[in-house]
Amino acid sequence: MTQLPTGTTPGLSPQVDAFDIPDDVVYLNCAYMAPQPRRVTDAGIVALQRKQRPWRLGPADFFDDLERLRAQFGRLVDGDADGVAVVPAASYALSTAAANVSASAGSRIVILADQYPSNVYPWRDLARRSGATVVAVDRPEDGDWTRAVIESIDERTVAVSVPNCHFMTGAAIDLARIGQAAGAAGATFVVDATQSLGVLPLRVDDVGADMVVAAGYKWLLGPYSLGYAWTAPQCRDWRPLEHHWAGRKGSENFAELTSYTDTFRAGARRFDVGEASNFALVPMALAALEIVNTWSVEGIASTIEPLTAAVVDGATALGLSVHAGPRADHIVGLTLPVGSSPGEVVKRLAEAQVHVSLRGANLRVSPYVYNTDDDVARLLQVLRAAL
Ligand SMILES: Cc1ncc(COP(=O)(O)O)c(C=O)c1O
Repeated sequence: MTQLPTGTTPGLSPQVDAFDIPDDVVYLNCAYMAPQPRRVTDAGIVALQRKQRPWRLGPADFFDDLERLRAQFGRLVDGDADGVAVVPAASYALSTAAANVSASAGSRIVILADQYPSNVYPWRDLARRSGATVVAVDRPEDGDWTRAVIESIDERTVAVSVPNCHFMTGAAIDLARIGQAAGAAGATFVVDATQSLGVLPLRVDDVGADMVVAAGYKWLLGPYSLGYAWTAPQCRDWRPLEHHWAGRKGSENFAELTSYTDTFRAGARRFDVGEASNFALVPMALAALEIVNTWSVEGIASTIEPLTAAVVDGATALGLSVHAGPRADHIVGLTLPVGSSPGEVVKRLAEAQVHVSLRGANLRVSPYVYNTDDDVARLLQVLRAAL
């Protein structure tokens, strides 16, 4: 990505065998949903079987894997495991943040134009409840979206909630600079990193976010319905959306659960969803994050970058275009030449087993480490025929 160089970490060899993708399928759609790595599926099968024998599930089974999961996610964002909550979806964590921002008539909440709905509706709801206004910042002609966001932050701003690259186009913004502007305005700063964590380096201290949120089923290779939120220390006294037994101090002692307490467990555990210790999903998510951390974000990024560059070069030569300004290296939104029908082209690609997405008018291509140069060549070949 233009403003977050990944350095000199060498790329991985293509990780085709780690996944179960048939030879005739070209899957360039990780931004939609990652194919589940074989190891994650294996972990899931073992995990599903556990509840067949509940007499073997003790209190430690409710907590230990969850703690390992927090540690793996913490490693990914260079934050403490204590700050990690396990949530079912990005929307859950974003709703937690929105429920804890004080706003009133005249307050402003800054987001990007056309950002993902899970990061829009919680803020619209806050605006409705409080009389605040949601300001959706358009990408300017020159592509400098960071500047445009910063210019829209002022003393009226109570929250800034943005992704670090746009889910439709990969357009990138500089979180650190936006975080500084939000901090200076006294605004809560929330990052939806669903479309970048695991592929773009992100260190919570550099970004200065109050909360970093990610759904786990895309670039984090995990199962559907399990996501994460890292919350900064100053926000760990926020109110959780739900009040479940496991969020409270001493909940490990099942014999004493009715010794009710108003004291929460340490860190951000209060923001976990109820029944976060999902016996099927947590081991799968754990296997997934272990893979990401073993490959390393830098190694993954270095592997994907040349693939995306080849897509852009080849597509541009065919008359498609990409927007101006900073872009992430793992998602590219291609605009088709005038006269082509994006829906028809995506359909033709799918018929040829080349899978991408249509988001807005963008043909969104999002490679991952299982893709090869041959996959890019196949995309371009079918694209040429479909235009
Ligand atoms: C930027 C972004 N955030 C969040 C999500 C998923 O949101 P949720 O976990 O609330 O379903 C997506 C899914 O495509 C996304 O692109």
